[in-house]
Amino acid sequence: MPIYALGDKEPIIHPDAFVHPDATVIGDVTLRAFASVWPQAVLRGDSGSIQVGERTSVQDGTIVHCTEFHPTVIGANCVVGHNVHIEGATVADHCLIASGSVLLNGSVVEEGAVLGAGAVMSFNGHIPAHRMALGVPARIRENHEVPPMAWAMIVDRYVENVKIYKSGLRRLD
Ligand SMILES: CC(C)(COP(=O)(O)OP(=O)(O)OC[C@H]1O[C@@H](n2cnc3c(N)ncnc32)[C@H](O)[C@@H]1OP(=O)(O)O)[C@@H](O)C(=O)NCCC(=O)NCCS
Repeated sequence: MPIYALGDKEPIIHPDAFVHPDATVIGDVTLRAFASVWPQAVLRGDSGSIQVGERTSVQDGTIVHCTEFHPTVIGANCVVGHNVHIEGATVADHCLIASGSVLLNGSVVEEGAVLGAGAVMSFNGHIPAHRMALGVPARIRENHEVPPMAWAMIVDRYVENVKIYKSGLRRLD
């Protein structure tokens, strides 16, 4: 499993977290309990730090980076979908950062908010709590509130996947 220290920066991975053997974790990265990192995801904590909260999944092909000015902090019970790019942003608890989206430096996603599939939120963007941002550039969807805990089923499924993969994943080649 490619998990690397960089100088004195070493990942802190809770024993109940799961990093797929084909994911890459480098440097100042903290993964809390039941957080999961899926194949081809890269979390590179070199110039700053990265935190992933409890029960949050970082799915296949997603790139998480940080800068010396902006750490990346992802809260608990979040879903970070496939092929996302997050760079120096803050995501609160219970958020969905949907597949193929881009969330850039200094952006803040408040609790229970959504960045939709394929959306691009540029520097210092902001999604208020329980709102949804869509499109390129991302715009807040009018007259729409995301219900609380809207992604709980997906979060639960990924926590279950952690258990399944920890006990059942076997490499065959
Ligand atoms: C953002 C998202 C949750 C919206 O779902 P929804 O609330 O069911 O939205 P709807 O399909 O009802 O569409 C509502 C409106 O938003 C638009 N819309 C929905 N998703 C959009 C997107 N990603 N980008 C741009 N517009 C979008 C629709 O065209 C529709 O517009 P209209 O009202 O003008 O017709 C969904 O599009 C999404 O991104 N899902 C991704 C899930 C994911 O990443 N899964 C992988 C991890 S398990």
